[in-house]
This record gives sequence, structure tokens and C-alpha cells, in this order.
Amino acid sequence: MSLSASYRLLTPLLLLGFVQVILTKRFEVKDGTKICLLAEFSANFSVSYDTTAKKQGIVLFSLPDDAHKSSKSSCNNMTAPLLVVSFGNGHSLSMNFSRSNISYKMEELTLVLNERDSTLFHNSSKADLFITSRSLDISAKLNTSYMCMSDSAVYMQNVNVTLSDVQWEVLPPASNFSKNKTQCQADVPTVAPPTTRLTTLAPTTTASPVVKNPVRGIYNVSNKNVTCLLAEMALQINISQKTGNKSTTKIFNINPHEISASGNCSNDQATLQLTDASTTLIFQFVANATLSNFYLNGIVISTSLVPSRGKEFKVENTSLHYLQTTLGKSYMCQAEQVLQVTSNVSINAFELHVQPFKVENSKYGTVEECQMDKDDMLIPIIVGAALAGLVLIVLIAYLIGRKRSHAGYQTI
Ligand SMILES: *[C@@H]1O[C@H](CO)[C@@H](O)[C@H](O)[C@H]1NC(C)=O
Ligand SMILES: *[C@@H]1O[C@H](CO)[C@@H](O)[C@H](O)[C@H]1NC(C)=O
Ligand SMILES: *[C@@H]1O[C@H](CO)[C@@H](O)[C@H](O)[C@H]1NC(C)=O
Ligand SMILES: *[C@@H]1O[C@H](CO)[C@@H](O)[C@H](O)[C@H]1NC(C)=O
Ligand SMILES: *[C@@H]1O[C@H](CO)[C@@H](O)[C@H](O)[C@H]1NC(C)=O
Ligand SMILES: *[C@@H]1O[C@H](CO)[C@@H](O)[C@H](O)[C@H]1NC(C)=O
Ligand SMILES: *[C@@H]1O[C@H](CO)[C@@H](O)[C@H](O)[C@H]1NC(C)=O
Ligand SMILES: *[C@@H]1O[C@H](CO)[C@@H](O)[C@H](O)[C@H]1NC(C)=O
Ligand SMILES: *[C@@H]1O[C@H](CO)[C@@H](O)[C@H](O)[C@H]1NC(C)=O
Ligand SMILES: *[C@@H]1O[C@H](CO)[C@@H](O)[C@H](O)[C@H]1NC(C)=O
Ligand SMILES: *[C@@H]1O[C@H](CO)[C@@H](O)[C@H](O)[C@H]1NC(C)=O
Ligand SMILES: *[C@@H]1O[C@H](CO)[C@@H](O)[C@H](O)[C@H]1NC(C)=O
Repeated sequence: MSLSASYRLLTPLLLLGFVQVILTKRFEVKDGTKICLLAEFSANFSVSYDTTAKKQGIVLFSLPDDAHKSSKSSCNNMTAPLLVVSFGNGHSLSMNFSRSNISYKMEELTLVLNERDSTLFHNSSKADLFITSRSLDISAKLNTSYMCMSDSAVYMQNVNVTLSDVQWEVLPPASNFSKNKTQCQADVPTVAPPTTRLTTLAPTTTASPVVKNPVRGIYNVSNKNVTCLLAEMALQINISQKTGNKSTTKIFNINPHEISASGNCSNDQATLQLTDASTTLIFQFVANATLSNFYLNGIVISTSLVPSRGKEFKVENTSLHYLQTTLGKSYMCQAEQVLQVTSNVSINAFELHVQPFKVENSKYGTVEECQMDKDDMLIPIIVGAALAGLVLIVLIAYLIGRKRSHAGYQTI
């Protein structure tokens, strides 16, 4: 079978999801006899290119069987291992690693594609080498092997690479992977019972399995240098996924220090967009002048932190009705609120304070508190009232007692 035929065969197979075809390849980068990098992974590529018909062609393929370590691979003095994998007709995938005395990381993924390869790029209008790269920061401790069975997508210009069944290690002490592992977040089920895959992994060191309470961030949106939306909140995302009969729940916090906030405001609509390296959250508020109120009616979440068949995970719901408040006032809720977006995606919001409309002088208007906070307030009020009542009873008893003893003196 010619190479062309095998690619043609693979493309429809991939589309049908015949993942079994894909092999996990093992690569060793050595300096003399010392191994500086061991790597095993499978990779899928989705490439868009210009065709002679002035249209975008899309080609899907996986790392083929002929993939091999190129002589350009190097240990770079044991400090910055470089793996270059050549495949097909002049294509290559490279990974730069670096290390310190306690950890190592994968820093950059580079893909070089030969657009002259007509077996892959049918009717390509270019005949160049197409080079694209993306810097990454995938870290693990030395003397542990990094492991990620889940799909992880790397989005680059015109190319998406999906890595899966990944295991690699810089400077493995023996000639095979260390038994101790650093697992990627996507492999760690936060709520679901451990799968067989995980139970075989012990002893294990996990990147950060415990989800702490989120930190509150202060965000605002301006319109022509005038603040038009004010928000303070601590956010946690909860995504449940089902693959086959196994369900996993991924819970992660939004770190305000990594967020950039943006958005826009008009008289009846306002949006707040929070973005970090892996996640984008959009909150859409609407105002109803007739009823003189506003509410949160749309939430969009997209993230690369959960696997989603090589694409970015994205959900949205634009028919919500949360946080309803009188126009001109601000909504406040200290208690945890669960903002259900879809049946399997929710946002846990804490210490919330928002005002998306009629913000004056960059300050919040009168506060309207959520029912949960009012209920919480009720307990101290009841306790306070009970205490006041007790003090009053004691006081009355004392006064009566005093009057009685006074009367007693007078009889003498
Ligand atoms: C390859 O791509 C197909 C289709 O996009 C996907 O279903 C499959 O999980 C991917 N496999 C790997 C190893 O990335
Ligand atoms: C290689 O590393 C050793 C110590 O680890 C250092 O002494 C030497 O100068 C390095 N060589 C180069 C070319 O960087
Ligand atoms: C990765 O390796 C290539 C080739 O050696 C080099 O040009 C590039 O600067 C390296 N990048 C990093 C981040 O080390
Ligand atoms: C790692 O290197 C830093 C300086 O670069 C040093 O302070 C530290 O003690 C070293 N740690 C270990 C475990 O050797
Ligand atoms: C890794 O293991 C080697 C030998 O097994 C040891 O010399 C080295 O100190 C260890 N490094 C770390 C960071 O634990
Ligand atoms: C390539 O071009 C030919 C003729 O222009 C057309 O018949 C064919 O369908 C094209 N193939 C692809 C994959 O676009
Ligand atoms: C490395 O270890 C795995 C199991 O942990 C084993 O299946 C494999 O054969 C070993 N490879 C080598 C080259 O020793
Ligand atoms: C695995 O890690 C633990 C704790 O860091 C260490 O005590 C143990 O020696 C390590 N095991 C191996 C095989 O390196
Ligand atoms: C996450 O969502 C699942 C189902 O939607 C729910 O059972 C679970 O309690 C939630 N966990 C947290 C911490 O919110
Ligand atoms: C405001 O609410 C009223 C009553 O529910 C509804 O009829 C009207 O369409 C709403 N206006 C807007 C702009 O949503
Ligand atoms: C890469 O993924 C993004 C997000 O899913 C998508 O918009 C884009 O079209 C993809 N690019 C290619 C070449 O597949
Ligand atoms: C709005 O946000 C910017 C940047 O985070 C900050 O400098 C500014 O003080 C904020 N304004 C208000 C009114 O909170």
C-alpha cells in the first residue's frame, strides 16, 4: 500500500473514531549511553491549509507508523533535551524540555509540515515548509515520570495537535520510567471513584488534587473610561463528564491573579468576560426597564482544562434567570450560590457582589441581599433577641427583689 493510500484510509477511519489504529510511540534521547529523555505518546493533527481552489482544506491524521527520532534530537548538555520526531514526507514534530535541580518541563512544541507533500495536502496552493510552534509549561518533579492518559489539545495557528497516552521523563535515573508519577489534572477524577487505570499507578504524586476555596477577584468594565459594571466574586467551575459508563468530575478555581477582565455595557445589556490562559467565562446581564430590574441571563464557559475530543470544551446557556435585582441597586450574596449552566456544568460562586447597570461614580448602589444571606442574618437576630430578653428578665427580677427587700426594711 502506498503512503498516499494509507493516509486516505486513515482519514475516514479517524473521523469514525477508530482510535485503536493509533499506536503509542516510544522515543529515547541519549548522550552516549545516558538517557536524557524518554517519551511515549500518540498524537493527532488537524491542519487547515490553502488549496488551489482558494478554499481552506482540512486534513486530519495521526502520527504515522514511520515516525522516528531524528538526528537533530539532542541532550544539550543534559540540561535542555530536545526531541525531534520525523515522519512522512519531510514533516517533523519537536519538543523542547528544560530542567532545574528539582523539576523539569516541556517548554515548546514545534511542528514543521512540508506543504509539497501532496499525499497529505491535496491541491495545496503553497509548496513551502509550514512552521508553527507554541510555548507550553508542562512541569513534573525530577525522578517522577509525567503521565497524561487523557487527550490534551495544543492549539496553534492553523494546526491543532492532540496528544494522548503521554508519558515522559527527563533524566530518568534508570533506563525506564520512574515508578513515581506526576499525573496531569485531567487524569485525576475529583469525585468519581478511581478507575482501574489509576489504581495501577501507585505510588503516585499528584499535581494538585485538593480543590481549595476560590479566591475573590475584583473585576470592572468601563465604557469610554467610565466604569459601567462592577463585580467582585470568587468562582469555581464544576464540569461532570461521562465517557462510556465512567463519569468524572473536574472542579477548578478561577485565579483572579491570572484573569484579564473585559466586557461592554449598554442601557439594557452588559457583559463581563474573564479570561486566563486556559479558560474563558462570559456573564451576560440584561435589564428590563418595564419591570425596572436586571438579572444574569447568559453564561458561556470554554476551557481547555477538560478533554473534549481534541476540541475546546464549550457550553453556553442564554436563557438563565439568576441574581435578579432592582435597577440602580447592586446584588450581594456572601453565601455560596450554585449557578447551574447545563445539567453537567455549574459555577459555584462565593462572596458575590455585582452591579452591571446604572453604576454611578464607580461605586456600588444600595445593596439587595440574596435570601440565603438574609436567612443567615436571622440566626444572629434570634440569638440576639433571646439574649436581650434574658437580660430584661434578670433586670426585672433584680428590681422586684430590691423592692421587696426595701419593703422588708420599712417594717422594722
Ligand atoms: C484522534 O482524533 C479523533 C477524531 O478527532 C479522536 O476521536 C481521537 O480520540 C483522537 N485520538 C488521539 C489519540 O488523539
Ligand atoms: C555542560 O555542563 C557542565 C556542568 O553540568 C558545565 O561544566 C559545562 O560547561 C557545560 N558545557 C556547555 C557547553 O555548556
Ligand atoms: C527549542 O529548540 C529549538 C531548536 O533547537 C530552538 O531553536 C528553540 O529556541 C528552542 N526553544 C526553547 C524555548 O528552548
Ligand atoms: C537547587 O539549586 C538552587 C540554586 O540554583 C539551590 O539553592 C538549591 O539548594 C538546589 N536544590 C537542591 C535540592 O539541590
Ligand atoms: C533523583 O535520583 C537520583 C538517583 O536515584 C538522586 O541522585 C537525585 O538526588 C534524585 N533527585 C531528586 C531531585 O530527587
Ligand atoms: C483537487 O482538485 C481536483 C481538481 O481541481 C478536484 O477534483 C479534487 O476534488 C480536489 N481534491 C481535494 C481534496 O480538494
Ligand atoms: C519499561 O517498563 C514497562 C512497565 O513499567 C515495561 O512494560 C517495559 O517493557 C519497560 N521497558 C524497558 C525498555 O525496559
Ligand atoms: C517515590 O517517592 C517517595 C516520596 O517522594 C520516595 O520516598 C520513594 O523513594 C520514591 N520511590 C522511588 C521508586 O523512587
Ligand atoms: C459538582 O457537580 C456534581 C453534579 O453536577 C455534583 O454532584 C457535585 O456535588 C458538584 N461538586 C461541587 C464541589 O460543587
Ligand atoms: C420585561 O418584562 C415584561 C414582563 O415580563 C416582558 O413582557 C417584556 O418583554 C420584558 N422586556 C424586555 C426588554 O425583556
Ligand atoms: C482548532 O480548534 C479550534 C477550537 O476548537 C477550532 O476553532 C479550529 O478550527 C481548529 N483548527 C483546526 C485546524 O482544526
Ligand atoms: C477597575 O479595574 C482596574 C484594573 O483592575 C483598577 O485599576 C480600577 O481601580 C478599577 N476601578 C474600580 C472603580 O474598581
